[in-house]
Amino acid sequence: MTALGSVVVQTVLLLTGLVVVQGDTQVGCVFGGSCVLPCRLQPNSDMIFDWVKISGMKLQVHSYYNHRDQLEYQDPLYKGRTSLFHDQISGGNASLRLARVNLQDQGRYLCHTSISEYNQVTFVTLTAPVARVDIRLVNNTVTCKSGGIYPRPQLTWSVSPRPATVLQNTTEVHEDDQGLYDISGSLRTVYNYTESNYSCSVQNEHSARKAMMRPHPPMHSAPKSEVLLSCNATGLDDITWTFNHDQTILRRQAGQEKVVETEWQQHVRDLSESGSLLLYVTSSAQSEGTYRCTLRYADEEDVTHIELKILEDPIEAQFQSLPA
Ligand SMILES: *[C@@H]1O[C@H](CO)[C@@H](O)[C@H](O)[C@H]1NC(C)=O
Ligand SMILES: *[C@@H]1O[C@H](CO)[C@@H](O)[C@H](O)[C@H]1NC(C)=O
Ligand SMILES: *[C@@H]1O[C@H](CO)[C@@H](O)[C@H](O)[C@H]1NC(C)=O
Ligand SMILES: *[C@@H]1O[C@H](CO)[C@@H](O)[C@H](O)[C@H]1NC(C)=O
Ligand SMILES: *[C@@H]1O[C@H](CO)[C@@H](O)[C@H](O)[C@H]1NC(C)=O
Ligand SMILES: *[C@@H]1O[C@H](CO)[C@@H](O)[C@H](O)[C@H]1NC(C)=O
Repeated sequence: MTALGSVVVQTVLLLTGLVVVQGDTQVGCVFGGSCVLPCRLQPNSDMIFDWVKISGMKLQVHSYYNHRDQLEYQDPLYKGRTSLFHDQISGGNASLRLARVNLQDQGRYLCHTSISEYNQVTFVTLTAPVARVDIRLVNNTVTCKSGGIYPRPQLTWSVSPRPATVLQNTTEVHEDDQGLYDISGSLRTVYNYTESNYSCSVQNEHSARKAMMRPHPPMHSAPKSEVLLSCNATGLDDITWTFNHDQTILRRQAGQEKVVETEWQQHVRDLSESGSLLLYVTSSAQSEGTYRCTLRYADEEDVTHIELKILEDPIEAQFQSLPA
């Protein structure tokens, strides 16, 4: 108790005075993950040190003396999230491992020992990378969404080939209750949308991800027949076919067999190496809608969008499928 008391008091005195900073170490942590705040002390048979957060409100993070963790004065914000490398403390390693990092953890941390008047400051910054970008085409509007990002992201469109006019587009950014950012953008295609490909990039200082929308010209088919929906994948791409945006038809991961959802098993006739889907369509009520092939790469999503119309009158269907 007295030992801890002295550690705490000395730290507070030190903090109210001027802290001699020995050159900050910068540590970048990923939101939700864990990271190590380094601190190396002079090896000593009786290691005594503590970790304190010194930006904003001073917070007691983790103390060590009498050869064990002393968490009596630990701030509740750090409860259950800190640990030391116990087997290496005697060798002078006083590094702190911080788990489930969140935005409040950002700032300066002091590793302090009263024995040698030795201080090390670590500056912790957080990032939450752009993990996923969702792109959709509904009613002549392409929308793009992503979320759980930090710091604040930006969204940019690129349209190829570029139409003569500037396209109406809007972007919205929201901060969620954890301080992360959600972003969404929409782009009105005021012309025949199949004449361009649309790419949306979401990025911040630390990460970037792109989603590409390739609209295929609308297709027509007769009921109770087979139709080939084309996609441009390789056997090594992670490919997913979906119906009306939210229903998964099938998925094939690199080098693996395809997995077809139960309710689609009687409709899926074949999936070619290039990812094209041979589908048996029944009626307009069941089979008409939007089919999407999504390829997922390390930093990009690539979507082929096909509107399929089922023409109930077989004569009309034949007529519509003739080349123009
Ligand atoms: C302390 O030990 C951990 C675990 O082995 C290691 O990752 C870290 O680099 C060490 N830090 C220092 C400052 O020696
Ligand atoms: C798209 O247009 C259809 C028909 O005009 C309408 O029923 C539907 O609600 C629209 N969808 C969206 C997302 O605006
Ligand atoms: C989106 O809107 C901005 C501002 O109005 C404009 O500068 C930009 O060119 C638009 N993007 C596209 C792809 O048309
Ligand atoms: C869209 O991308 C696909 C695949 O790269 C390409 O075959 C097609 O020509 C592009 N479409 C337009 C309108 O540029
Ligand atoms: C849009 O362009 C595509 C490809 O150039 C064509 O197949 C389709 O019929 C056009 N749609 C309209 C409504 O003009
Ligand atoms: C298919 O993808 C390959 C490589 O990704 C690309 O070179 C080719 O242009 C694409 N073709 C079409 C028709 O999209």
